[in-house]
Amino acid sequence: MDKKQYALFEGKFVPIEDAKISIMTSAFLYGTAIFEGLRAYWNDKTQEVYIFRLREHYERMMDSSKIMHMQIKYSVDELCKLTVELVQRNKPTGDTYIRPTAYKAAPRIGPSLENNPTEFCMFTVPFGDYFHGADGLQVQISSWRRVEDNAIPARAKIVGAYANTALAKTDALNAGFDECIVLSENGHVSEGSAMNVFMVKKGKLITTPTTENILEGITRGTIIEMAESELGLKTECRPIDRSELYCADEMFFCGTGAQIAPIRSIDKRPVADGKVGPISAKIRDLYISICRGEVPKYHKWLTPCYNSGSFGSMSAKPSGTPRA
Ligand SMILES: Cc1ncc(COP(=O)(O)O)c(C=O)c1O
Repeated sequence: MDKKQYALFEGKFVPIEDAKISIMTSAFLYGTAIFEGLRAYWNDKTQEVYIFRLREHYERMMDSSKIMHMQIKYSVDELCKLTVELVQRNKPTGDTYIRPTAYKAAPRIGPSLENNPTEFCMFTVPFGDYFHGADGLQVQISSWRRVEDNAIPARAKIVGAYANTALAKTDALNAGFDECIVLSENGHVSEGSAMNVFMVKKGKLITTPTTENILEGITRGTIIEMAESELGLKTECRPIDRSELYCADEMFFCGTGAQIAPIRSIDKRPVADGKVGPISAKIRDLYISICRGEVPKYHKWLTPCYNSGSFGSMSAKPSGTPRA
């Protein structure tokens, strides 16, 4: 029999089937919601589930909330605590995706963010690999451009902006590719549909700067840090031209969902010899070991949910947790 699954919905833990919003909700009508996507990794040996970089996701959510005139009723510490509690209630014994959303909840016509209360909800679902196949992805440069900072800021994870993502991703799939890269209006590389992009050229890691209409990825930051400390590779953050991608030695996507996903061709041009490159493979393997709790040095990035508190990024005690 399936285990009962819970959601956090408007201040209470409720059975997931009871977590429903009205069709008149502002966020549903206008896309005025922000979200995060977190992963919790199962470790069979320790029988533990580890949430990866929990605190950093909620710190970014707070930044998104500022941009969108939202007042989330919980602090970062409270959000961390509630997330662990939801995972404990849902008792996963496999890899899990966690989706918190803050949304404008007034039941009314008109998109204004003012005088419009912010509500919060969260659910979890089992989640394996986002991309299948270890041979690398076939990628196209999208004909859609990334939403600009002065249109819908990409650094905020705004639900409405994912219509841009959906158009780009769908066209790539319909054209027979696995994924796409979108450019900014200035023609520079921005990112994948829901992931950041790195290339390797002459042994150097290069990624787009945060001013190129990207989401400032937590995985991106993780790679920059661990590539330097574990592989001695410094990352150069600078604008990347489309044609530089065609001449890269290696290329990969990174993101919570995508994890580390090597790219084997771009616009039908093989990346180097069209095989997964050695640096991409090393980074992918190391990243997954870290996420599963196999590298003690990086336990600081993990929050264990079942034997809580031994390490991780949850510090202060919460106040005002919701009713069960
Ligand atoms: C548009 C976009 N870019 C990049 C990322 C990667 O960000 P992160 O590594 O924080 O998951 C995501 C994923 O959430 C995304 O939606």
